[in-house]
Amino acid sequence: MPGRHFLQIPGPTNVPDRVLRAIAQPTIDHRGPAFAALARDVLDGLQRVFQTSQPVVIYPSSGTGAWEAALVNTLSPGDGVLMFETGHFAMLWRDMALRLGLQVELVPGDWRHGVDPRHVEQTLAGDRERTIKAVAVVHNETSTGVTSRVAAIRRAIDAAGHPALLLVDTISSLGSLEYRHDEWGVDVTVGCSQKGLMLPPGLGFNAISAKAQKAAASARLPRSYFDWEPMVRDNAAGFFPYTPATNLLYGLREAVRMLIDEGLANVFARHHRFGEATRRAVAAWGLEVLCADPEEYSDVLTAVMMPAGHDADAFRRIVLERFDMSLGAGLGRLKGQIFRIGHLGDFNDLMLAGTLSGVEMGLAAAGVPFMSGGVTAALDSLVDVRSVRL
Ligand SMILES: Cc1ncc(COP(=O)(O)O)c(C=O)c1O
Repeated sequence: MPGRHFLQIPGPTNVPDRVLRAIAQPTIDHRGPAFAALARDVLDGLQRVFQTSQPVVIYPSSGTGAWEAALVNTLSPGDGVLMFETGHFAMLWRDMALRLGLQVELVPGDWRHGVDPRHVEQTLAGDRERTIKAVAVVHNETSTGVTSRVAAIRRAIDAAGHPALLLVDTISSLGSLEYRHDEWGVDVTVGCSQKGLMLPPGLGFNAISAKAQKAAASARLPRSYFDWEPMVRDNAAGFFPYTPATNLLYGLREAVRMLIDEGLANVFARHHRFGEATRRAVAAWGLEVLCADPEEYSDVLTAVMMPAGHDADAFRRIVLERFDMSLGAGLGRLKGQIFRIGHLGDFNDLMLAGTLSGVEMGLAAAGVPFMSGGVTAALDSLVDVRSVRL
């Protein structure tokens, strides 16, 4: 098809040309001085993105590897982990924890709400034996477009006076939604490259608090490749214990520069405008957003519920064939019932306008009942002077 494909899934996201060009350089000696300078640059920049002064480590892995690193470095066989059924990714992390031999206490959920901090406080207050060693939360549930309030969860843990570690998945929020690893008292933040960081897939991150590093000294789950200790040690001089993904690190340096140059506050405000405009479009179409609580709306993606009797995957297929745009599928138990519009990363007003136009035309082409005017509502929202960049 002529023109550019619209990649509007909630990650992997569009990789900016600047980042693509940065990646397209000769690979260098990963034990030489030029690499050390690159690594230090990247690691320092990442600390700014995570808003931490503590170590951040980078794995040549997808986000799933970074999930595993968070668990195996901090926990021992049989340790209790409090997890929440916020959606598909929370359940996959739970499955991993079970496979690793952890005892998961799962709080059931309806996939339309985030983690309730009151529930965290009550559960931890009732854990008198201190069997729960970690609370694991997905900040932005990519399968549902629902966020959880991490700062409030930290306060809930503190209110219960409980020593559990706080592990947070920011795989689809880092670099798009406000996130403060240090200020919010998170012990391990899990991230990856292919969403808000605007890179191809292939890098996983852990930001690690002093408390988590201390826990790692006595944690007994088997670990080797993902062990923090040799990574943090070698990173101090700008090196890695094994061959790093050199070219992705070139890209990461460029992506971090872009975020810092724009200003993180502006990046977050930009995503908020996209989230707001998209939600106004959905409301004008007469359709429903999956997220049930406006306080938990995601500015990264919007999951839209399909009217009964209509298959979201058939709609997505038509949008792909007719307009060359990829939208996110309903995952797990939401398959066929929702579609997800990604509005994150290297993205601007006109790209959103094009995306929503594709959705509106697709609804018509697929014979889905809707009211026209969603795109107009979104455009009105985007030109609203109150929503203009700070
Ligand atoms: C919130 C969340 N957690 C974890 C993952 C898994 O990451 P990956 O597919 O990079 O292994 C994803 C992937 O989309 C995700 O969105």
